[in-house]
Amino acid sequence: MLSFLTFLAFFLALIGSTVIIVLGIAGAYLIIAGKFMCFSPPVPSSGKTKKAMLEHAAKYLEQHENLTVTDLGSGWGTLLLPLAKHFSSHRFVGYELANLPYYISKLRASRLKNLQFKRQNFFNVNLSNSNIIFCFLLPSAMQECEDKILPQLKQGTLIYANRFPLPNMEPLQTISLGSAYETFYVYRV
Ligand SMILES: C[S@@+](CC[C@H](N)C(=O)[O-])C[C@H]1O[C@@H](n2cnc3c(N)ncnc32)[C@H](O)[C@@H]1O
Repeated sequence: MLSFLTFLAFFLALIGSTVIIVLGIAGAYLIIAGKFMCFSPPVPSSGKTKKAMLEHAAKYLEQHENLTVTDLGSGWGTLLLPLAKHFSSHRFVGYELANLPYYISKLRASRLKNLQFKRQNFFNVNLSNSNIIFCFLLPSAMQECEDKILPQLKQGTLIYANRFPLPNMEPLQTISLGSAYETFYVYRV
């Protein structure tokens, strides 16, 4: 009995310390990414905001054909993976510079022919074919998007901006699901 309890205590301690180490590494990665990288950390859209943005975009995708959907800084693939699985007739492209999220999202997308993740700076890409754009970026990058990306986009392109708005463009809709952290903005070019 005593040896079983010793084994159980050892087992729980092992699991506990593994969880702490993994969370520590993930936390340190996010902090370092946020502090020292010149772009926003790979924090995914989540919870109510993610669900509402995906539902909003899904309604548009249902009513149209052959659209190109782009995620500017696609992180772990959180937004494009569920959409690409559901809408096989549309094309989905995510641009991501950070190695770890890029490789993980690429692995997750390996069976989806209509979804591509590219390890590229989205400011160096021609986005004029995009019909829907997602972005969840820092305020400074939203200003840069307004200056460099907006002029490329064709009329009618929908933009979903999670949390941080485009500084000078009037949104078609501001959807607030509670706090400022749960707000997203929908724009039509
Ligand atoms: C806050 S995360 C959002 C991830 C995903 N779009 C979502 O909503 O779940 C922002 C991501 O954009 C990436 N990123 C920022 N600037 C970028 C750039 N210029 N080119 C490519 N990726 C960029 C960051 O590495 C980060 O993973």
